[in-house]
Amino acid sequence: MVFPHFNRRGSRHFLPFAWCMPVLLAACSSDAPPDDSGEEPAAAEAMGDGPLDGQVTVDRLPTPDDATLLKGRDVWAGTCMGCHGLGIAGSPKITDKTAWAPRIAKGKDTLYEHAINGFFGADGAMMPERGGNPELSDDEIRAAVDFMVANSQ
Ligand code: HEC
Repeated sequence: MVFPHFNRRGSRHFLPFAWCMPVLLAACSSDAPPDDSGEEPAAAEAMGDGPLDGQVTVDRLPTPDDATLLKGRDVWAGTCMGCHGLGIAGSPKITDKTAWAPRIAKGKDTLYEHAINGFFGADGAMMPERGGNPELSDDEIRAAVDFMVANSQ
């Protein structure tokens, strides 16, 4: 009570640190291995005519046997799923056959070229070069396109 002013200042200094703690903790926990919640891996959903509902994560799609498609699956999950899993930013959503049919009709070589070098659609939506991941080789991009097309026709 003798130094109320000092006490108030002290606590004010402490507060920002307290606010930081949850942030630091969250940053630490993001280094933890991906949450393996112990749930059964979801079986791939049967594909009807329409697109799968909501965000299409890779575990909702059949796991291919073919080695190239399998590689494409990994690439797709790592780089392409962020947009093409939900149809973000005007991107054709995986499993949406209606959205993919006119694109598939252009031929695989055109799709590869557009995925590797980037592409602006008629509505101005942008497919970024290599999905925005310059680390990916041409073969990896082609494999990801193959995987996306195989699941969208
Ligand atoms: C930042 C979002 C984003 C990411 C990430 C992304 N795409 Fe796309 N992609 C788009 C959009 C938007 C379009 C549609 C452009 C248009 O035709 O209007 C598109 C279109 C495409 C097309 C069709 C091109 C055509 O000629 O019709 C292919 C193939 C494709 N993307 C492949 C990929 C692959 C493979 C990856 C991962 C390596 C990927 N995309 C990652 C946004 C994205």
